[in-house]
Amino acid sequence: MKGIILAGGTGSRLWPITHATSKQLLPVWDKPMVFYPLSTLMLAGIRDILIITAKGQVDAFVGLLGDGKQFGINLSYVEQDAPNGIAEALLIGREFLNGGPCALILGDNLFHGDNLGDRLRGAAKRHTGATVFVHAVRDPERYGVMAFDPDGLPLDIIEKPSNPPSNLAVTGLYFFDATAPDRVADLQPSIRGELEITDLNRSYLEDRKLTVEMLGRGCAWLDTGTPASLLQAAQFVYSVEERQGLKIGSPEETAWRLGWIDRDALTRSAGFSAASDYGRYLNDMANSSEFLTVSALSGVPTLEMSVPSDPTGMVFNAQSQEITRRTGHD
Ligand code: G1P
Repeated sequence: MKGIILAGGTGSRLWPITHATSKQLLPVWDKPMVFYPLSTLMLAGIRDILIITAKGQVDAFVGLLGDGKQFGINLSYVEQDAPNGIAEALLIGREFLNGGPCALILGDNLFHGDNLGDRLRGAAKRHTGATVFVHAVRDPERYGVMAFDPDGLPLDIIEKPSNPPSNLAVTGLYFFDATAPDRVADLQPSIRGELEITDLNRSYLEDRKLTVEMLGRGCAWLDTGTPASLLQAAQFVYSVEERQGLKIGSPEETAWRLGWIDRDALTRSAGFSAASDYGRYLNDMANSSEFLTVSALSGVPTLEMSVPSDPTGMVFNAQSQEITRRTGHD
């Protein structure tokens, strides 16, 4: 499956910060905003990613991310001429998708939580229909909101409702089958003149092809479109990282843990930012005695610590096999 990050828009709610730069290049605590959605797509197992930027911004993104080799992925770039709506990403990306399914993520959305990778890989495996993720918010009127029938089945999605039918907002991460670009081509722009992602999702809902997955309270979903939400996101990342000593939204770490880059590549990336906490973090990872082993989930290698008394890692291999036996995964 391929992925698209929509990093367009004018960032008008953040002006003047966004007067001369893209919103998605602004820092969220210790790394650029776009690192977070990029890591999320990678966590879904996606390695071929198109980044759609605002007009005139491709060079800045290329300067930051290059061709993606340092993350073990392929990155390509294209501009969105004008902010014509999120759904337009499927038309702009049509050639890149080449008739295949995709995941689309908004460049200012940040997801964090246990088991997120499993949930995302599960959605990526569905070959027909679309999957959206909903999450409880205090201010649903700012988002696309899911309405449910009395049996709890998805009934409708309403964009920025003045009377929200629920507190469950549709987050900015969508998985679409190969029909998405054709569906967008049939949409009419909304009153605000945009091709609405909500209208695309509604077309799947009407065809009974929309899967709605709930992200529970153990997951965090943050967007970063206003000064207040940008600060909140930075404070969230800061708090979790300071407490755990583990970083959120590092593409290098994600690539390393998925086995997409080797130790040399990780060391090289660390070298570029050696003076920063981020660089030291990558360097510590590259120098640690962690090694790749097979996890309980098929095809998903994870890193586990080696034990000094057991340089072969047999203890952990044995543990993995035990988990495998218990969970029934092979
Ligand atoms: C967009 C979508 C909305 C979704 C939100 C998630 O809103 O239109 O349905 O809930 O992203 O961040 P916008 O960023 O256009 O306000």
